[in-house]
Amino acid sequence: MTNILSTRNLHKSYGNSPALAGVDLDLRAGESVAIMGASGSGKTTLLHCLAGIITPDAGTVGFAGPSGPQTISAMNESERSRLRRECFGFVFQQGLLLPELTALENVALALMLGGTSRTQAEIYAAQWLSSLGLAGLEQRRIGELSGGQAQRVAIARAQVTGAGVIFADEPTGALDSKTSAEVMDALLDSTVGRGKTLVLVTHDAAVAGRCARLVELRDGRIVRDSAPLAAQLLPAQLLPAQPLDSVQLSR
Ligand SMILES: Nc1ncnc2c1ncn2[C@@H]1O[C@H](COP(=O)(O)OP(=O)(O)O)[C@@H](O)[C@H]1O
Ligand SMILES: [Mg+2]
Repeated sequence: MTNILSTRNLHKSYGNSPALAGVDLDLRAGESVAIMGASGSGKTTLLHCLAGIITPDAGTVGFAGPSGPQTISAMNESERSRLRRECFGFVFQQGLLLPELTALENVALALMLGGTSRTQAEIYAAQWLSSLGLAGLEQRRIGELSGGQAQRVAIARAQVTGAGVIFADEPTGALDSKTSAEVMDALLDSTVGRGKTLVLVTHDAAVAGRCARLVELRDGRIVRDSAPLAAQLLPAQLLPAQPLDSVQLSR
């Protein structure tokens, strides 16, 4: 699998306190990755750097975009804004949905911001809502939906533009455990289930356990990464097989 996002030596500080202190991470296209860690460990900061919401103080973020490799960390604000609109989708704990609009309008708006006509946008939006189990609720305002239904609207909104990478920051943080599991079903099915990449931040082990890969942060550094061992080895280490003794002697 190819790397879709790669960071090298990522640093970000707020005042004197480092939020990221040297993060190297390769995310493969089509995988689901949970970024875990205690509150304040740098999870949101890492997600924001990966998604081009903020720029790191040092280090690079590379993206294998639809039109070729791009260095997100070197882009200006308008380039990053365009990249976010065209290539990425976002699901947050709450907040991106406009309460005065209906479910359908909230999802359609994401497409209309990119220039799609209202009629066309509402057709796509209705299809996404339906695929997330929300058929019949199109005309409800967000306040008239349950928390789990509203998060599924947010999932539809994040993906209706055709984004290949979905970033989710504590998407189940405001939900009870049963609803949380249902929202995770919807999120996983609609992203990695369709070949997209999911980058999810959570401090909930049950939610993280639903993802194929677990990356744990502590004090702005990766302290654990469950990526399959073979994927972490350098190519030279994969070839050729050596007798165990000689491997040990060469260290
Ligand atoms: N906008 C900000 N201004 C000042 N400090 C911040 C800001 N964002 C994050 N921080 C600090 O950076 C550290 C990492 O924060 P964050 O990435 O939000 O962690 P997490 O998402 O794991 O809780 C924390 O110490 C936090 O207080
Ligand atoms: Mg956070």
